[in-house]
Amino acid sequence: MRSELIKELFQSFIENDDTKFFRAAVEIIEDEEKLKHHLLAKDLKRIINSKNQNKLILNTNNSKKYKVSIPIPRDNDKGFPLLEIKERYFSLDDLILDPKIKKKIENIPKELSFREIFASYGLRPKQKYLFCGSPGTGKTLTSYVISSLLGYPLVHIRFDSIVSSFLGETSTNLRKIFDFIEQGEWVVLFDEFDVISKKRDDPYEHGETKRVVNNFMQMLDSYNGRSILTAATNHQHLLDTAIWRRFDEILYFDLPNEELRSQIFKKYLSVMKKSKDLNIFELAKITEDFSPADISYICEEALRRAILLNVNEIRFEIVVSIINEHYERKKIIRSV
Ligand SMILES: Nc1ncnc2c1ncn2[C@@H]1O[C@H](COP(=O)(O)OP(=O)(O)OP(=O)(O)O)[C@@H](O)[C@H]1O
Ligand SMILES: [Mg+2]
Repeated sequence: MRSELIKELFQSFIENDDTKFFRAAVEIIEDEEKLKHHLLAKDLKRIINSKNQNKLILNTNNSKKYKVSIPIPRDNDKGFPLLEIKERYFSLDDLILDPKIKKKIENIPKELSFREIFASYGLRPKQKYLFCGSPGTGKTLTSYVISSLLGYPLVHIRFDSIVSSFLGETSTNLRKIFDFIEQGEWVVLFDEFDVISKKRDDPYEHGETKRVVNNFMQMLDSYNGRSILTAATNHQHLLDTAIWRRFDEILYFDLPNEELRSQIFKKYLSVMKKSKDLNIFELAKITEDFSPADISYICEEALRRAILLNVNEIRFEIVVSIINEHYERKKIIRSV
């Protein structure tokens, strides 16, 4: 481990500076990954990610990143929190995507660092991103990766939970959320965004939904803060063009092709020794239409079985049988 990083860790402890600690920890994890110490890197990530959320909020109240104590907004009616703050570490390597999309993600910190120069030309960096595409393709994960790249905590908003049964309350909830995010630098994720953004001209839609959609678009338009706003949906067909226009960038997360599937298998099987006959390319070939989340599930199951069988290596025929079981599972899910 590099000596300056050890010093920074100690210094951050003395200064009670979470931001400094986090930055050093992230560099250490990246170094270990480069050295191919995947198990250690994974353990370190798990430790960082298990940081108690309440503690995080307490600490961040003292941090320079946020303004003084910010209470989490709650729904007036039922009293539940309207958002969750999450600080988990992911590196860009955790995301296996079409290189064109990955490049756009990679560019976000660079764009933000040009904020002042952009402003001198009357421009702003791109801040509003819409992620659409099939389930399990990495939309939520991408928001976490951006949050790690920028060192901004993630504010996770589940749209279905803020749509209140009381007329008028939903817009109030949205206002509270925007008031909250104005007070800091975050990566905001409006998840399952389509719940609220159903086509505004849908005759079956209640007038309240139309009003809420209008309200949301106004808030999105007038948002002037420094956060990155992301919205994710796998029902992009439900969104109308007025919504699409509000975003600076729309990224489509497609199912992975064979090459990307190989990379995903390689990544998720890297933590254990593989049997000689294990052919990653063959696994990628027989998993057409599988999402990265499907592949991650299959790999985890293969690891579990190897451990239970006490064989300490991943065997090709076991992975193939899990793939076949998963095909059946997908068939059942599709038929319901
Ligand atoms: N592109 C990817 N690269 C690597 N792993 C991925 C990728 N996409 C998904 N995964 C794995 O699958 C898990 C679930 O993915 P994620 O929650 O980001 O999907 P999603 O697109 O948000 O799905 P949904 O539309 O159902 O919300 C991730 O935590 C990760 O383990
Ligand atoms: Mg998601």
